[in-house]
Amino acid sequence: MIRLLYFSTATQNMSGADVDEIIAHSVKNNTERDVTGMLAYNGRNFCQVLEGEKGTVDDLVEVIRADVRHSGFKVLGEKPITQRHYEGWAMKRVDDLDFSEALNVMDA
Ligand SMILES: Cc1cc2nc3c(=O)[nH]c(=O)nc-3n(C[C@H](O)[C@H](O)[C@H](O)COP(=O)(O)O)c2cc1C
Repeated sequence: MIRLLYFSTATQNMSGADVDEIIAHSVKNNTERDVTGMLAYNGRNFCQVLEGEKGTVDDLVEVIRADVRHSGFKVLGEKPITQRHYEGWAMKRVDDLDFSEALNVMDA
């Protein structure tokens, strides 16, 4: 398995409901793909951690990268893991305004 972290910039103003909609859709899809992780939005940027089998995460990253709701998609890190940090979370919404949780999880 791998854990991957990316940052991106929203192309339009996202409301709390918009982010909830992304989370709800992600929970459904990620559960089917056995992907776990977190998503944070600070009012301008997204930060997301994705965990799962490498091929599955790589395919999902390409789908997410192509989403017109954001741009400037930049993968900041990827590492092999044997244990998930977000076990039980198909996609956890985190109010992590400075993205410190995601950065700490990648460093752990
Ligand atoms: C910031 C952001 C994060 C996203 N994260 C996920 C995700 O974790 N899983 C997912 O399936 N879709 C995610 N999406 C949505 C995908 O880009 C895409 O719209 C969706 O997977 C298409 O699902 P469908 O094939 O069921 O229509 C995200 C979109 C954005 C803008």
